[in-house]
Amino acid sequence: MEIQFPPLPLYENWGRPLRIESNIDGLVLVEGKVPAGLNGTWYRCGPDRQYPPMLGDDVFIDGEGMAHMFRFDGDHVSYRSRWVENDRYKLQAKARRSLFGRYRNKYTNDPGAADTHMGTSNTNVIFHAGKCLVLKEDGLPYELDPDTLATRGVYDFGGQVTAVSLSAHPKVDVVDDRLLTYSFQARGDATRDVVFYEMNREGVVTDEIWFEAPYSSLVHDFTVTPDYAIFPFFPLITDLDNLKRGGTFYRWHPNEQTVVAIVPRRGKGQGIRFFRGPPTSAGHMMNAFQDGSTVNLDLCLYSGNCFPFFPTLEGERTSMVPPILTRLTFDLNSSADGFASRVLTPMPGEMPRTDDRYQGYPYRNGFMIVMRGPDGGSAVGHIDHATGTVTPYSFGPRTSVHEPQFVPRTPDSPEGDGWLLVIVNRLDANHSDLAILDATNIAAGPVAVLHLPVRVRSTFHGTWVPAGTLASGRYTQSRA
Ligand SMILES: [Fe+2]
Repeated sequence: MEIQFPPLPLYENWGRPLRIESNIDGLVLVEGKVPAGLNGTWYRCGPDRQYPPMLGDDVFIDGEGMAHMFRFDGDHVSYRSRWVENDRYKLQAKARRSLFGRYRNKYTNDPGAADTHMGTSNTNVIFHAGKCLVLKEDGLPYELDPDTLATRGVYDFGGQVTAVSLSAHPKVDVVDDRLLTYSFQARGDATRDVVFYEMNREGVVTDEIWFEAPYSSLVHDFTVTPDYAIFPFFPLITDLDNLKRGGTFYRWHPNEQTVVAIVPRRGKGQGIRFFRGPPTSAGHMMNAFQDGSTVNLDLCLYSGNCFPFFPTLEGERTSMVPPILTRLTFDLNSSADGFASRVLTPMPGEMPRTDDRYQGYPYRNGFMIVMRGPDGGSAVGHIDHATGTVTPYSFGPRTSVHEPQFVPRTPDSPEGDGWLLVIVNRLDANHSDLAILDATNIAAGPVAVLHLPVRVRSTFHGTWVPAGTLASGRYTQSRA
């Protein structure tokens, strides 16, 4: 069968399906010097397209998972990428074509795929309790070989996870060595069940809290503080009848409210508070922290629908609105169910990250992709919450960047003192670079640039794993 991809804007230029597995032992250093002490592996994941989409249409969050890794061994940096060979991938490889239809809608799949999970494994890679796991919120994790990225198989934590899926945005607590994760639509498509799991350093579930969401919606990311797990519900809602009619997995409901659930950890599901506000949406949280009886949640907030390709009930596509880093504040002492909202910077930004040792704690430094200008490019940005100042660094015209990754300079260095790893897309030269910046001074530009002879089409999220952690299965970082 001929392989031809449809003329979708999503597949043009940088978005052309790549479909290449790479293995480069020793990337060429083209600028600066790789910092001493940067020893470990940076895992990432994103979507590609194994075969042309079955229904001729596609959305950018769909596509089969391609896992990537950069391994730093002294000043020798190697790169590898591999398809995630999950059940979907293997069935399609046998058929030599796509067998799965509309994004997350199993009612649109080829009859030959009826008994196969349609999960794509395309969003994130984490490492905890010795397991390297690739994630997508539509199904359970798959375990990867941490050295080769070979797919080992689906992983349900030895039967401890009974939810049908797990989020691609767990929090790995790199200080207390815990995994905090959750599932939404946890008992199947369009169900309102949500479950929070906490695993200890052995990967044993020590806390499990089930509760009911206000509606069956997208819960792409969450945050955790020492006392609470915080779940934002935005009115991108799944309806089973609509799925059976072949519709989109989510539809935007502008008449519904934003609802934020604050769930006491170790609270056995008691004392959950639901706060309500106008309809907004967000994919990603930068951080959250407690301050006395208040909880602050920093997120890249859209004043409307963050995914315009998921239409309204009437089938209308909403217009794109920019993501604005915003702080929502919840007063747990008050019986009122509203919350305060404050813009942290007017500069639009997405894919926020922090020094992971400070997830859930007061923090000063945040990092994200910032939009730069009319040429479609993007830049990496640093926000100093003490001053509200955003410092962007652009790699020049016709470049764009993936989500940045912070790496502490030492396991106990002060908050924000470390390196920032960034994959840079050279749009005209049709290849990517790996740039390393000093996170305390990104305006100075990269301290090292390593050349990739190939394009890294797209990666959503990733994780830095220190070499010692890979060897021992334990995180041993600390807050200064
Ligand atoms: Fe995400």
